[in-house]
Parts: sequence; structure tokens; C-alpha cells
Amino acid sequence: MASLEVSGVTVAFGGHRALDGVAMTAEEGHVTGLIGPNGAGKSTLFDVVSGLRRPSAGRVSLGGRDVTGLGPSRRARRGLARTFQRLELFGRLSVRDNLRVAAELGPERRKADAAVTGLIERLGLGAVADDHVDTLPTGLARLVEVGRALAVRPTLLLLDEPAAGQDADETERFAALLRSVASDGTAVVLVEHDMGLVMSVCDRVHVLDLGKIIAAGTPEEIRRDELVLAAYLGDA
Ligand SMILES: Nc1ncnc2c1ncn2[C@@H]1O[C@H](COP(=O)(O)OP(=O)(O)OP(=O)(O)O)[C@@H](O)[C@H]1O
Ligand SMILES: [Mg+2]
Repeated sequence: MASLEVSGVTVAFGGHRALDGVAMTAEEGHVTGLIGPNGAGKSTLFDVVSGLRRPSAGRVSLGGRDVTGLGPSRRARRGLARTFQRLELFGRLSVRDNLRVAAELGPERRKADAAVTGLIERLGLGAVADDHVDTLPTGLARLVEVGRALAVRPTLLLLDEPAAGQDADETERFAALLRSVASDGTAVVLVEHDMGLVMSVCDRVHVLDLGKIIAAGTPEEIRRDELVLAAYLGDA
């Protein structure tokens, strides 16, 4: 059973269809890529999946249960966590405290300190653990946002351009982190413009263009797909 199943999702802003009959799935234990040009609708689809935006048509189910009518907090309680393209961290709190706030909401709240220490280690944030988040370069701040999402032990994790601002070494470490999160049994959905990262880490990739899924398949299939080359990868 798919952790996430989206079908027929349509969202219109005025007369413009940002999403038009979108279907996609994500499986536990896998990293699923969601790519496409700027304005394709990737972040809007995350808003629909996480319950921040109601689609005018279509359904979303998590773990086989239809959640289309549920709000964001009830979806979070069913194991969904996400990061935002525009970060939503507490800038005046330290890295550690940002993670603690999230851990205290999750299933490990009674052991929040130990969970936070483990996350800082896993994310490689030890050197900046006591720094205010608003003093960090964006690459590191994005990692804190990923850490906050991981702190609630999600079964479905939506990541919106988490590697933007990372250098090559950081991206390589991040790829290993994503594989390890997936191997813990989480379904990871990755929106990302870094095609090296997407193609190396994803099991399957969905391609959105102008609000429609134009292709879905393995990274090798996507790289060779004529429609994808024309819409996106040809000039990437
Ligand atoms: N709140 C909104 N009101 C009106 N139009 C919107 C709104 N949010 C998004 N859009 C439009 O919907 C379309 C999809 O936007 P979206 O942010 O989902 O794209 P994206 O694939 O995430 O792009 P990017 O790669 O630049 O982040 C765009 O045309 C955008 O201008
Ligand atoms: Mg976006």
C-alpha cells in the first residue's frame, strides 16, 4: 500500500490551473522525486498533501486512509511532516531549541533531550547547535528545518528544495541522510532542482509541468524521456 496516494488533484488560482488532475504515489522506504520547472506546481502540491490548501477536485490518502477532508494538524498526527521552501524556523532560537520544540510535539516527547542530541549528531549540526538559526547560512538552516520535520518521526516526509544553498560536500552528506531516513521506513518526497541529487537518491521521479504530471519513472527513464527533456531537463 502506498504511504501517499494523490489522484485527480486540481487547484486553480483565479483562471489559472496551478494543478490539473495530478496523480502521484510515494512508498514507504523509498525516496520519490518531484521535479519540474519553476511555477510547475510542486509547492502547491505539497500544500494540498499537507492540508494547507483544499483542492477543487481530487483526493489525498495517507496510509490507505482518505484524508482529503482533514486539516494539517490531523494529517501531522497521521505521520506527515514537511519542510517549506521559504524556511519557517524560529530565527531567534538556537538550533537545539528549534529541534526541541518539534521533538516535544512528537512521539518521543518524554525523551526529547535525547532525541534532539541524536538529531544534531545525525544532521552534523554539532558545531552550530547553540547558534541562533538566523545567523546560519541557508544550507545549514535548511538542514535544521529537515531536522525539525524528522523530530516528529514522520512516516511521510515532504521536502521542498532542502538542498538549496548546500555545497557539494554538504549535498553528498545530505543524500546519505535521505537514504538512511528512507531505510528507516519513511516515505520521502523530494522536490529539488539539483538534478545530481535527485537522480542519485530517488527510486522514482515524477515530473510536473504547468500543473500536469508529464512523466513518472526511474531516474534513468526520466533522463531519457522526450517530454521531460523538452520541458525541463533539456536546459538543466
Ligand atoms: N497563493 C497563490 N496565489 C496565486 N497564484 C499562486 C499562488 N501560489 C502559487 N501560485 C501560482 O501557481 C503556480 C505554481 O506555483 P508553485 O509555487 O506551486 O510552483 P513550484 O513548482 O513550487 O515552483 P518553484 O520551483 O519556483 O518553487 C505558479 O504559476 C504560481 O505563480
Ligand atoms: Mg516551489
